[in-house]
Amino acid sequence: MNSSFNVHDAAGYEQLMGRWSEKLAPQFINFAGLANGEKILDVGCGTGSLTFALARAANFGEIAAIDYSPVFVEEAIRRNTDPRIKVRQADACALPFGDATFDRALALLVLHFVPEAEKAVAEMRRVVRPGGVVAAAVWDHLGGMAGMRMMIDTVAALSESGRQLRGRYCFQPMMQPGEMRHTFVEQGLMDVTETQLMIRMDYLSFDDYWAPIAAGEGPFGKYMATLDAAERARTDAAVRSAYEAGRPDGPRSFANVAWACRGIAP
Ligand SMILES: C[S@@+](CC[C@H](N)C(=O)[O-])C[C@H]1O[C@@H](n2cnc3c(N)ncnc32)[C@H](O)[C@@H]1O
Repeated sequence: MNSSFNVHDAAGYEQLMGRWSEKLAPQFINFAGLANGEKILDVGCGTGSLTFALARAANFGEIAAIDYSPVFVEEAIRRNTDPRIKVRQADACALPFGDATFDRALALLVLHFVPEAEKAVAEMRRVVRPGGVVAAAVWDHLGGMAGMRMMIDTVAALSESGRQLRGRYCFQPMMQPGEMRHTFVEQGLMDVTETQLMIRMDYLSFDDYWAPIAAGEGPFGKYMATLDAAERARTDAAVRSAYEAGRPDGPRSFANVAWACRGIAP
């Protein structure tokens, strides 16, 4: 299995994560660098948050965007109006491109869903020209996502299966401090830099926060779909209570940190 990502529905993904990766994308582009005329690869493009942010940020030569999920590929193709952007289904661990094809290969919020993430980094390095840039960012699930951590700790307090979910969620690939940097160096990238990027996720209400998960989106959504009606009701109520934190339902804002790493292809 080359992806642990759970895809349910493109609109649900937008509400769960797409709107936040869109907010993170300009910071990631700033860190990864970008110049006019470049040929760029977006690995794990999802519905296109990074792809279209790149297109807005520079007068690029060409963007190739790939994703494992046919549902997301279809949605990114539907959204695209620029013939210089080409979206296709592919695996990050076996990129369908020749060596040294791109100026930059970027992966936003993808490597933690690739069980053999080092293979994806090796592939990104392979398809980038000497002197080109490989860059990636992943959420810090363990220490950097207050809103998601609140949800997963609540679920873990309720059941053994919730505790197992938390163990998997908090220790996905590339999330430990220095882990991505180490992998980039091991894969032969040069001048490797790791940093942290931060955005806030601002929700209008509990429903705005919880609805995509209750509908089955993402890793929590997949977990929720395994619960019977009574367990679901108990979980809904407990997470609502954590979100509200003793005040009436309404807007809440949570800080979220991503690890980001970039290196130069030899
Ligand atoms: C959290 S989404 C991020 C999508 C997009 N980059 C964004 O920032 O909105 C993770 C994406 O990684 C993709 N993915 C996971 N494993 C993959 C693999 N082996 N090859 C290509 N894409 C993969 C998933 O299908 C999903 O679209």
